[in-house]
Amino acid sequence: MTTETETIRTTVPAGTGEAPIPRNATETPAQGAAPRAVLAMDHVSYSYTKGGKKVVDDLSHDFHAGRVISIVGPSGAGKTTVLSLLSGLTTPTGGRILYNGGDLAKADRYRFRSHDIGVIFQSFNLLPALTVEENITLSMEASGKTFDRPKHDLVVELLAKVRLPAEYANERILHLSGGEQQRVAIARALGYDPDVILADEPTGNLDMATQDDIMAIFRTLAHEEGRCVIIVTHSPAVADQSDEVFQLKPLRR
Ligand SMILES: Nc1ncnc2c1ncn2[C@@H]1O[C@H](COP(=O)(O)OP(=O)(O)OP(=O)(O)O)[C@@H](O)[C@H]1O
Ligand SMILES: [Mg+2]
Repeated sequence: MTTETETIRTTVPAGTGEAPIPRNATETPAQGAAPRAVLAMDHVSYSYTKGGKKVVDDLSHDFHAGRVISIVGPSGAGKTTVLSLLSGLTTPTGGRILYNGGDLAKADRYRFRSHDIGVIFQSFNLLPALTVEENITLSMEASGKTFDRPKHDLVVELLAKVRLPAEYANERILHLSGGEQQRVAIARALGYDPDVILADEPTGNLDMATQDDIMAIFRTLAHEEGRCVIIVTHSPAVADQSDEVFQLKPLRR
């Protein structure tokens, strides 16, 4: 079995009409130069077992800063596997994942995961007995980054970004609704200011209005803050609200 991909729609971010400048860029790209790929798959293949069937076969794609990219495809097409490869959680069995042009397999992947990339899991992976603030500050501390302001102030700012009232800082996760937990998971992923946000079905169990709201947050993170936001989705409405759609197709076996 092989996997075939196709980019079915590509547009530049709304409003600018030109490629965004990557975050942390030390120089502005030359006029007309292609925007830099913050994350890239270079002929990536993956099989879960040695010599087993490939779940991902020879995928190449550039993911740019300042964009929301949807990964779509039927169940079993390998979307979660691709996210896991992009996040450095899994190492390709063939090809390379590049972060800012460097091979992830040769980089400090713990640092990459705790520092440069924010992952929002389908099941959120929040700690239910802890408060919202405790969940967010734990991942800030794990990043090893230094923060110039008290963490509580940063938490309140993050909550505003995901449109939760400041009082939620002291709520325990188990008292929150699914949509509210989704927002906390996003806030937590933003806590250490990563370049790339990866989310597995971030709007899976949400009503339409909440889904649109979460997508608006992702677009702001990409278009106004210059992050690269990559989401897996089954929803055509969500894919429609992204800048680019990357389609994974399992081929006939
Ligand atoms: N840990 C694993 N060990 C062996 N095979 C696996 C493992 N995880 C996933 N697979 C297989 O890899 C293929 C792709 O799985 P993946 O979870 O990436 O699909 P997906 O596109 O995310 O599907 P869904 O839309 O249902 O979430 C499937 O055939 C799955 O059974
Ligand atoms: Mg999946």
